[in-house]
Amino acid sequence: MSTANNTGDLQASTATKHCVRLLQTGETFMCGSYETLLQGMARIGRKGIPVGCLNGGCGVCKIVIRSGNVKKTGAMSRAHISEQDEAQGVVLACRVAPDGYVELEVTGCIKKTIMRAQCGVMP
Ligand code: FES
Repeated sequence: MSTANNTGDLQASTATKHCVRLLQTGETFMCGSYETLLQGMARIGRKGIPVGCLNGGCGVCKIVIRSGNVKKTGAMSRAHISEQDEAQGVVLACRVAPDGYVELEVTGCIKKTIMRAQCGVMP
């Protein structure tokens, strides 16, 4: 099992890769337990996936975990993710890593990019 160190980085030496499915498109990608879901999502090759602050502060990478478990890699701004949201699986992709098979839905800015590409219209 990977753990976060004091700087918020994950230790890759004990990493495991997990399958992650984007429910809206049916696409899957592999994501290491040492990296965030946003990093894994970026590898599916979608042009224009919004990458903001990468530290849980801007809210552009909001997703909903529908199945499976994730572990937090750092704090998420309460301005974007309330405690109630978090309890319902709403998280920031730049601040969580997979801890097994995960199914997720994208929302907000990321959803626009993912769905536009799914329809064959590239950003
Ligand atoms: S990129 Fe800013 S909150 Fe995720």
